Amino acid sequence: MNAAASGDKVRRAFVTGGRRGIGRGIAYALAQGGFDVVIGDLTRDADAEETLQGIAERGTRGAFVTCDVADINEHQAVIDRVEDAIGPLDCLVNNAGISVAKRGDLLETTPESFDQLMWVNLKGPFFLTQKVASRFLERRADGCYRCIVNVSSANAYAASPNRGEYCLSKSAVSMATKLFAARLGEAGIGVFEVRPGVIRTNMTAVAAADYDKRIAAGLTPIPRWGEVQDVGRAVAALASGAFGFSTGDAIHVDGGLHIPRL
Ligand code: NAI
Repeated sequence: MNAAASGDKVRRAFVTGGRRGIGRGIAYALAQGGFDVVIGDLTRDADAEETLQGIAERGTRGAFVTCDVADINEHQAVIDRVEDAIGPLDCLVNNAGISVAKRGDLLETTPESFDQLMWVNLKGPFFLTQKVASRFLERRADGCYRCIVNVSSANAYAASPNRGEYCLSKSAVSMATKLFAARLGEAGIGVFEVRPGVIRTNMTAVAAADYDKRIAAGLTPIPRWGEVQDVGRAVAALASGAFGFSTGDAIHVDGGLHIPRL
């Protein structure tokens, strides 16, 4: 559903981890699609200011709310601040996420790293979704499409034993997507998972030389790095309501990385 089909009501999205990287790409694509956008992140720095500027340049309202998605006791207050800033939400994008502090042998994964990955990548988004979904259910949709999009990863299905706890957190996000999709379908709320492959951001910068080589050697049928705009466009398409009779799906934004090849 585009803005016209929504009766031209302004729609509003909250993008966690929207300060930079894929979150910025999503914020820009949503703004391009007519959404007012709140970016939620740990710190309001120069990157955050650049993202807010970019939203404004696309003609919609932007705002910043400080938030740590892992701090689940703060979620209610965070959503209050988000809605105070732009009004009632129609869309939540659970994008904030971290990789392992250090890639290494699965046999040496520490409980501390395991817990941290689970808190930020899984438990935080799960409980934030719970809170936002409850608000969606309390309010009438006013004819507007509402949805929740979870940014998981190719590691939702692909095993990388040098960052096992990351893979576990992201594969559980897939199930969380299906669980919420099954719960919220009756209310017309779509829940989706977007699985980025190798996307050029700070997160992948540590392994850029390795990915350059692997992409050149045929890692992906589409032989290039993914860009944050690739992920942004996919999320914006889902948020537009164009897939109104779909829910629980995972969209790969990975240049075909997921295709098993012989
Ligand atoms: P990034 O590191 O550039 O950006 C992540 C953003 O999330 C940062 O602004 C960071 O401050 C924020 N963040 C981290 N922990 C947070 C917390 N506890 N609360 C609130 N905000 C927090 O990383 P990138 O690449 O943009 O990643 C975004 C999402 O995409 C993550 O969930 C990541 O796992 C996922 N992803 C990234 C891929 C890539 O190739 N870059 C591939 C597959 C998935």
